[in-house]
Amino acid sequence: MNFDIQKTTSPKAKPQDESKLGFGRIFSDHMFIMEYEKGKGWYNARIQPYQNLSLDPASPVLHYGQEIFEGLKAYRADNDDILLFRAKENAKRLNRSAERMCMAQVDVDLNYEAIRAIVDCERDWVPHNPGTSLYLRPTLIADGNALGVHAAHKYIYYIICAPSGAYYANGLAPIRIYVEDKYVRAVAGGTGYAKTGGNYASSLKAAEEAEAKGYAQVLWMDGLERKYVEEVGAMNMMFVVGDTLITAALEGSILPGITRMSILQLARDMGIKVEERKVSIAELLDAADSGELKEAFGTGTAAVVSPVGELTYKDKTVVVNNNEIGTLTQKLYDTLTGIQTGKIEDKYGWVTRV
Ligand code: PLP
Ligand code: COI
Repeated sequence: MNFDIQKTTSPKAKPQDESKLGFGRIFSDHMFIMEYEKGKGWYNARIQPYQNLSLDPASPVLHYGQEIFEGLKAYRADNDDILLFRAKENAKRLNRSAERMCMAQVDVDLNYEAIRAIVDCERDWVPHNPGTSLYLRPTLIADGNALGVHAAHKYIYYIICAPSGAYYANGLAPIRIYVEDKYVRAVAGGTGYAKTGGNYASSLKAAEEAEAKGYAQVLWMDGLERKYVEEVGAMNMMFVVGDTLITAALEGSILPGITRMSILQLARDMGIKVEERKVSIAELLDAADSGELKEAFGTGTAAVVSPVGELTYKDKTVVVNNNEIGTLTQKLYDTLTGIQTGKIEDKYGWVTRV
């Protein structure tokens, strides 16, 4: 597919020191963008210089939060190939989120081609250092000018690119997690499985309070019984209890992570017993007491595989694996990142070259 490309006349300087990239703070020169109108469909698909959007102040995204997004990465292989990881899964998930939020769908193949096109245009922005990548943020917002609470008739879809390093300041070091017992993120029947801005806006208060106490993220519990652990702010959660890898089942309140799905497949193929089911906080604390809670880690595009060294629930804190990266956590991290960067053979067909 060929998109109109308008190149910038004032390219920005690329980051000099890739060890200081951080996450999502610097943006590349160009963006993909297209517009939608009911009855007309998507139109004016193009790549243009990165720039501000122009929105009517009555635009529904600004009032009612009709917004969804995605997150995926382009990696630089040792031979300078630029590799995308499971991009079509992101395109499919965007449409599942769009369906929940009553938004226009973006054809999966069109979206995939748009992702490829912007990455191709920005390939020089894909950083080189180990652990870095070009983070892509596909975003779909409602446009128009009507204050009635209805699904919009106009949408804007765009993709921006941020050369990024580790999501957590300390890289692949175990993080401290606060098990949230006051606030809830989602309930079955709500929007938990959709990647929509409101889920993140409503999580900020808990995150701020946890951060003030020195925790990197909160671990959400189910909104009904506040008994079962679900996911953290930007990652799905996995626990190694005895010889079994356990994670919350997909029951509508958590995001069906693409990293989650990939890690579960890798673990199964390594011969690890995997269970997707309800996991209560009581079960985890008991397992910690009896020495059966061997490892805990989060999975996500931005965070990759992130070991958890400490869990606090109410007045009880448990240290996991002596606050060190677990053997299985490390093996899964190495395998996943090896496939993503072309160092390990991709027998799954997850990686595509741009
Ligand atoms: N859960 C939440 C709330 C997230 O924001 C993310 C990040 O995208 C994930 C889980 C992990 O999903 P994925 O592995 O597709 O990045
Ligand atoms: C991602 O991992 O892509 C995310 O979207 C997490 C995030 C909200 C920073």
